[in-house]
Amino acid sequence: IKRITTNTLHDMKARGEKIAMLTAYDYSMARVVDDAGIDVILVGDSASNVMAGHETTLPITLDQMIYHAASVVRAAARCLVVVDLPFGTYQGNSKEALHSAIRIMKESGAHAVKLEGGEEIRESVERIITAGIPVMGHLGLTPQSIHKFGTYTVRAKEEAEASKLKQDVLVLQEAGCFAVVLEKIPAELAREATASLKIPTIGIGAGRHCDGQVLVVHDMIGLNKGFKPRFLRQYLDMYGMMNEAVKSYVNDVKSSDFPNEKEQY
Ligand code: KIV
Ligand code: NA
Repeated sequence: IKRITTNTLHDMKARGEKIAMLTAYDYSMARVVDDAGIDVILVGDSASNVMAGHETTLPITLDQMIYHAASVVRAAARCLVVVDLPFGTYQGNSKEALHSAIRIMKESGAHAVKLEGGEEIRESVERIITAGIPVMGHLGLTPQSIHKFGTYTVRAKEEAEASKLKQDVLVLQEAGCFAVVLEKIPAELAREATASLKIPTIGIGAGRHCDGQVLVVHDMIGLNKGFKPRFLRQYLDMYGMMNEAVKSYVNDVKSSDFPNEKEQY
């Protein structure tokens, strides 16, 4: 199979083919997602929430991200694998940012890294790219800044924040990013930002005009019980299905129905 690269994504935008991206954090899930034809797997720091049960993405460490990323890389035969640099491993120090990015690339075998922010992290982005590591940007709702924002509601509804975002996408393109995630911003703003760029935008809660879409896989398969924001399309009730399966198993064991004659040696 031919591997998707950052060049493939660039060509997809040029010919108007949408980019499909999902998160994954482990081997088994990545195998399903890659085999189903996803273009990009994001090993998101949302692992902090969905895998570890933390309130925010802040606690996850670089070592933990590398463990998740290496597991995903072992399953990903076709897709591009992008890994989040976690909180505290790149902000405001480009040398540390480069060191963190190099660790991810060397120790996990991933193909690219993602960083949150615009102008504030330009130097880090440039330094990482200079080392030959592709960088994906992330603007709008940037969950590593949740304590600055205070809520997970839509960003950039006001003109000041919207115009900063429009500048920041250009800063990231100029710095050499191969794509940029736009999270939870008005669809019209995402449309303008997308039209202003040669590099693809990947939206989550950013409307239909982005060059691609990303969702957290646990959300889209309905495994993250009770999480139903407006932007989410839920394709399965995985929580309900698994819950029923486990109940049946418990019943079968208690009733001595499992294992039966054919299921023993
Ligand atoms: O960590 C994550 O899952 C992300 C996506 C929501 C873009 O950054
Ligand atoms: Na993230």
